[in-house]
Amino acid sequence: MALLYTLLLPLASASALYSSYNFNPLEHLGGVAPYFEPQDPPTSPAAPRGCTAVRAAYLSRHAAIYANDYDYEEYIEPFIEKWKNHTGMDWTKIPALNFLADWSPPISEAELEILTRVGKLEATQLGVDLSFRYPNLRLPQRIWTSSAERTAKSAQALVRGFELDDNMINVVEIDEGKQSGADSLTPYKSCPGYSSSAGSKQSRSYLEIFTKPIVARLNALAPGFDFEADDVYGMMELCGYESVIRGSSRFCSLDLFSPDDWLAWEYTADIMYHYNVGYGSNVAGAFGLPWLNASAHLLMSAKTEQDLYVSFTHRELPPAVIVAMGLFNNSDFGGTADRINNTMPLDRINQRRAWKSSHILPFLGNIAIERLDCADSYGFEDGEYYRVLVNSAPQELPDCTDGPGTSCSRQGFETYLKDRLAVFGGFSERCGVDYDNSTDVLTIYTDPKVGNGTTVGKRSLWENGRGHQ
Ligand SMILES: *[C@@H]1O[C@H](CO)[C@@H](O)[C@H](O)[C@H]1NC(C)=O
Ligand SMILES: *[C@@H]1O[C@H](CO)[C@@H](O)[C@H](O)[C@H]1NC(C)=O
Ligand SMILES: *[C@@H]1O[C@H](CO)[C@@H](O)[C@H](O)[C@H]1NC(C)=O
Ligand SMILES: *[C@@H]1O[C@H](CO)[C@@H](O)[C@H](O)[C@H]1NC(C)=O
Ligand SMILES: *[C@@H]1O[C@H](CO)[C@@H](O)[C@H](O)[C@H]1NC(C)=O
Ligand SMILES: *[C@@H]1O[C@H](CO)[C@@H](O)[C@H](O)[C@H]1NC(C)=O
Repeated sequence: MALLYTLLLPLASASALYSSYNFNPLEHLGGVAPYFEPQDPPTSPAAPRGCTAVRAAYLSRHAAIYANDYDYEEYIEPFIEKWKNHTGMDWTKIPALNFLADWSPPISEAELEILTRVGKLEATQLGVDLSFRYPNLRLPQRIWTSSAERTAKSAQALVRGFELDDNMINVVEIDEGKQSGADSLTPYKSCPGYSSSAGSKQSRSYLEIFTKPIVARLNALAPGFDFEADDVYGMMELCGYESVIRGSSRFCSLDLFSPDDWLAWEYTADIMYHYNVGYGSNVAGAFGLPWLNASAHLLMSAKTEQDLYVSFTHRELPPAVIVAMGLFNNSDFGGTADRINNTMPLDRINQRRAWKSSHILPFLGNIAIERLDCADSYGFEDGEYYRVLVNSAPQELPDCTDGPGTSCSRQGFETYLKDRLAVFGGFSERCGVDYDNSTDVLTIYTDPKVGNGTTVGKRSLWENGRGHQ
């Protein structure tokens, strides 16, 4: 399905004489979007002329799961229960909803939070992609993951796509401890200043606005079901979840929800992520910084154990790293930092925003920092340069643009890092840490106490995975 899209769309639009409108809801589903590369911005992922990547660090969200507990309990399950209760409805008479006559819910309680087959495929494909992108780098000895099953399974699936023979790459699990300070892949869990519900109040305002006409329309189509705002939100989430479980979903139909409905759903999610883990949060940059700092130091150091450092985490961390890096900033080029919340109005969509969660944190959403060796890049000195990619799209770093393409020189990168540390350093203090053994530094990549992890057998992924945690 995803493959068909990528094959057919460019052809169709290249040959169309007049502009033709295309819309794929799966690319507007925020944290429920299957992995895709939005090309935001459409800069080329190829290394700049004359440059070769000699080291890289990746941070990835886990791949597609059946459903997140919160989404399921809050929106999806109540809709499913209601649908089950309304056995008297004759759905067959309602064109956009007739599939509900013989639909079956795609998610069981037992499957919540675990990877789907699409998820395993996504992560495996990233492993293959890394081998294509970095043919000159040594295969990593270890990759790192937070300890939840969905992140660990993503790491294992990536390893299977990446290694050529069994047991070449180990997976190291890092505890998701509440007292780990900045020294984990889930530092928001050990940051008391972070609240997992931040942003729900604000996104609720827009959710009520955009669902109102949809609720009215659906209730006119199907009197007696009594559709409510949360049903609409849940049905739209089901488009994403059912697609990564079954390969397609009738909830994605543009006859059921129009492109503008999907854009409004996406904006609701973007408001939530803005306040939860984005520029509207007072702690996101502080818990995003340690990964940036640790990775930047690894890449800049003279010698490292590995050429490639890959880590898996949950949806909260990549956007926080984006904030620490200063990317996808709505206020860039004109706004001011103290008015950042004004860029996400709660009564209408800011269509021109840079902050789009679908582009940052789809399933398997990932951020990379590359160290490049450049020679004969016309107009630039030979030497060491740094570059950041988000879902494979190279990004211009704020105040760090003195290299070929979107890269920046070593000296520029050092200054950039120093500036970011000055803004967001001090994890424990900013997070209001209330335990006394905290740390502001992420050391898992170099701390010998972390150990070598375990190998990944070929078959266990598909046949006898560990139990659900
Ligand atoms: C389903 O029906 C039962 C029994 O009438 C009722 O208690 C329950 O609240 C209903 N649930 C929903 C989601 O409508
Ligand atoms: C602090 O102590 C707790 C309890 O022993 C431990 O789980 C945690 O990893 C420690 N934190 C750090 C940063 O060492
Ligand atoms: C976002 O951009 C504005 C305007 O350039 C800048 O003042 C602010 O510091 C930026 N925010 C972050 C976190 O980098
Ligand atoms: C944005 O809103 C959040 C939540 O109300 C608040 O904590 C934060 O300080 C605001 N940011 C700015 C820059 O005003
Ligand atoms: C940044 O990383 C370096 C190298 O690991 C470390 O010495 C320093 O303390 C770190 N600073 C922060 C704020 O993480
Ligand atoms: C991890 O592997 C390295 C290199 O193979 C080895 O030197 C080291 O002793 C191992 N450490 C542990 C804790 O097994």
